Amino acid sequence: MVSELRIEPVNGDQMILDWQHVHNAIIPNDPLSLADIGERLRRNRLEVAYLAETLVGCTTVRPPSGDTAAATVIVRVLAEHRRRGLGSQLYVRALAQARALGTDEIETIVWASNVDGLRFAEALGFVEVSRYLPPDEEVPYLTLRLTDRG
Ligand SMILES: CC(C)(COP(=O)(O)OP(=O)(O)OC[C@H]1O[C@@H](n2cnc3c(N)ncnc32)[C@H](O)[C@@H]1OP(=O)(O)O)[C@@H](O)C(=O)NCCC(=O)NCCS
Repeated sequence: MVSELRIEPVNGDQMILDWQHVHNAIIPNDPLSLADIGERLRRNRLEVAYLAETLVGCTTVRPPSGDTAAATVIVRVLAEHRRRGLGSQLYVRALAQARALGTDEIETIVWASNVDGLRFAEALGFVEVSRYLPPDEEVPYLTLRLTDRG
């Protein structure tokens, strides 16, 4: 049941492993090591979501940086748990966290193979502003920005 969703800040080794599992299942071409995640934890807000005791998703909220005035919000739900409103619950919470950082400029990043992620972001009012194709890769990462429609 959706009401059982529990979303918690990453804290401790098991939650780091859970966050890693979701991230790497959804973006298999860019697997993150535990060291990578430790480094992100210093800069970003990372959370993990459970339905009762079952791991279902994770989030990243990245503050504005020297590169961009926008905060970045990324929500991820494992494929077998999608289209039940969980992504929306994660998004509402992550968006509030991003806005609390003092910016109204919100972006997200979607690996173009993640068609579900693109449809979800478009439904929320995000539009593509740029794309990046890493060297030797075939699928770009799209940066989308939240418009007034969101
Ligand atoms: C994006 C993601 C988190 C959505 O998770 P979810 O739990 O399926 O999302 P929800 O069930 O809350 O969907 C909310 C609405 O988004 C839209 N949506 C979501 N997936 C969609 C799809 N594949 N096609 C069309 N619309 C879609 C629909 O309007 C949906 O409402 P509905 O189910 O009542 O029609 C999930 O697909 C995912 O992890 N994708 C890969 C990660 C990613 O690319 N994240 C970036 C986006 S921030």
